[in-house]
Amino acid sequence: MSNPTLLILAGDGIGPEVMNEVKRIITWYGDKRDMPFDISEDLVGGCAYDKHGTPLHDDTMAKAQEVDAVLLGAVGGPKYDDLDFSVKPERGLLRLRKEMDLFSNLRPAQCFDALADFSSLKRDIVAGLDIMIVRELTSGVYFGEPRGIHLEGNERVGINTQRYTESEIARVARSAFELARRRSNRVCSMEKANVMESGVLWRQVVTEIHEKEYADVELSHMYADNGAMQLVRNPKQFDVIVTDNLFGDLLSDAAAMLTGSLGMLPSASLGLPMANGRPKALYEPVHGSAPDITGQGKANPIACILSFAMALRYSFDAGAEADRLEAAVEQVLADGARTADLLGPEGGSPISTTQMGDAILAALDASL
Ligand code: NAD
Ligand code: IPM
Ligand code: MN
Repeated sequence: MSNPTLLILAGDGIGPEVMNEVKRIITWYGDKRDMPFDISEDLVGGCAYDKHGTPLHDDTMAKAQEVDAVLLGAVGGPKYDDLDFSVKPERGLLRLRKEMDLFSNLRPAQCFDALADFSSLKRDIVAGLDIMIVRELTSGVYFGEPRGIHLEGNERVGINTQRYTESEIARVARSAFELARRRSNRVCSMEKANVMESGVLWRQVVTEIHEKEYADVELSHMYADNGAMQLVRNPKQFDVIVTDNLFGDLLSDAAAMLTGSLGMLPSASLGLPMANGRPKALYEPVHGSAPDITGQGKANPIACILSFAMALRYSFDAGAEADRLEAAVEQVLADGARTADLLGPEGGSPISTTQMGDAILAALDASL
């Protein structure tokens, strides 16, 4: 049987820095666990624009459709801020999500015990936290038409449209219910049904799917603004949160601070199963290209490394190996390894991106 295939798109800013550490871990799995992957690499985002004049070349898009999983670092940066919208680095990522139809974006927020004191919230509130935000990723206001900026009379108007079909809501709801069954069996759906028709439909469809197919799962509904407040007031009340594209973007960045740092949060973007039974999949950290620390060896590679752990679990049926990698991360944090973003107010001496990779590789070796 041929090896599973990975396309690595490291992207811009700290993307290549954190992805370097992931590449070492992939090599470790090939050498030490007899799990070789066939890897190809390509460009996405600003670096692709610099070379091809587009943030995602058609050939790269075609490759992404063929591989078993895509690993992405991050895209964007101030150099590209003034580009036309159609060629901005972020459009490359959005095209991948849309054309691969990656409708279910899993953003777990787990607080490792060693970091409970580094969250901006009190230890009691975050210790032991383990929630899963399921963000709809291919529709909503990110993609709805009409959109654009045009003139009405002598005034400019900016337009985006929140639009959801019932099948788009139903499929992401199913994915949240399925996950809940393998966790603590609770789903909280968040929208703004009090002010948005798309929110009314969202609540109706989630309720119908629940009644017909998942009555064994506990379902609750919350307005997303209250949800944001509850997420920082008492995050442990949640198990799985399912929400739309924009609310999911905001809520997951907020959830990041519960875990200590945005540099800790991985994600999996999953679509429909391919012919081989694997879901179309892209794995990426929740954070961006972090221009403020690019090139300084300060980036925390853990979010990107944990994204590869999610690939092991969701694309390669290697849950035990994902557990091994997550345990290695937990171990190095317990041993006190800290990149700069993980230092509390009392400071301390941070290690570099590569040193964090070294520590995780050593913990993996020790796990054998
Ligand atoms: P950002 O996530 O890049 O950075 C926010 C803050 O978190 C910065 O202070 C940064 O230094 C810190 N940070 C982020 N990741 C870190 C890590 N791994 N280790 C240590 N510190 C880390 O968000 P931003 O500054 O709003 O956006 C910068 C660029 O990234 C923009 O162009 C934006 O569009 C893009 N972006 C891309 C993605 C993606 O590729 N998925 C996600 C978010 C933002
Ligand atoms: C994310 C990012 C992206 C988003 C951008 C870079 C397109 O913020 O992955 O969370 O808004 O979805
Ligand atoms: Mn975001």
